[in-house]
Amino acid sequence: MAHFGEPLFEGTIMETTCRHVAIIMDGNGRWAKKQNQLRTFGHLSGSENVRNIALAANKLNIKVLTLYAFSTENWKRPMEEVEYLMKLPEVFFNRFIDELMREGIKIMAIGDLSRFPSNTQRVLLNAIEKTKNNKGLILNFAMNYGGRDEIVKAVIRIKEDLDSGKLIEINEQNFENYLMTAELPPVDLMIRTSGEHRISNFLLWQLAYAELVFTDVSWPDFSEADLIEAIRTYQHRNRRFGGL
Ligand code: IPE
Ligand code: IPE
Ligand code: MG
Repeated sequence: MAHFGEPLFEGTIMETTCRHVAIIMDGNGRWAKKQNQLRTFGHLSGSENVRNIALAANKLNIKVLTLYAFSTENWKRPMEEVEYLMKLPEVFFNRFIDELMREGIKIMAIGDLSRFPSNTQRVLLNAIEKTKNNKGLILNFAMNYGGRDEIVKAVIRIKEDLDSGKLIEINEQNFENYLMTAELPPVDLMIRTSGEHRISNFLLWQLAYAELVFTDVSWPDFSEADLIEAIRTYQHRNRRFGGL
């Protein structure tokens, strides 16, 4: 398996640095419905696929994989579906935390976790604590995350720091310190599965110059090969950042 820093396939001369991949894991419900299954079955299958893609990203030497798991708008869904989604982190970590630990994967989360049931919060915080010294992939879950919420929360904290004199002036660089992704490298590549061509309130600030790849594949079917294909697409893009 190729590693980043080296070309993914021979003959690639493009810039290959792809440190931070972010994915909108979409299409679980439609994938399940197509097979006459409940939407929740799609979510369970989707969470199993998080393990596969995290292991693949780790092997590919990607530094950060940010996965959109639950948006600030997903509370609008039927209560039973929301409740099921709240239980998934426990199912996921019970099954996979030992393997993720062995692989050196470090768990992180962005979003407002305080609205989750205390058990869900505890399970997530345990996984974060247990893996905090790992040096492999950072597997970052966006949970009750919304880009607008993140920016508003940043502004609130900036106001506090301005009032207390801790901050003298605001600029693009120090604004980023107030975002939930402050410690992470910039997003290089954003992938959305399942045929929707929108951002749906994901990483609004951070996607400013990310490369976007949209695929019709549903999240539960999104494979290591699909990830590699998206990265190859990324490698063939010419990132100009407004320059020439
Ligand atoms: C993504 O799949 C998972 C979450 C948003 C939690 P969806 O549940 O949005 O599946 P579709 O888009 O309805 O098929
Ligand atoms: C975005 O998917 C959120 C997550 C994948 C967690 P949605 O399915 O909620 O987005 P819309 O409603 O199609 O925009
Ligand atoms: Mg969806």
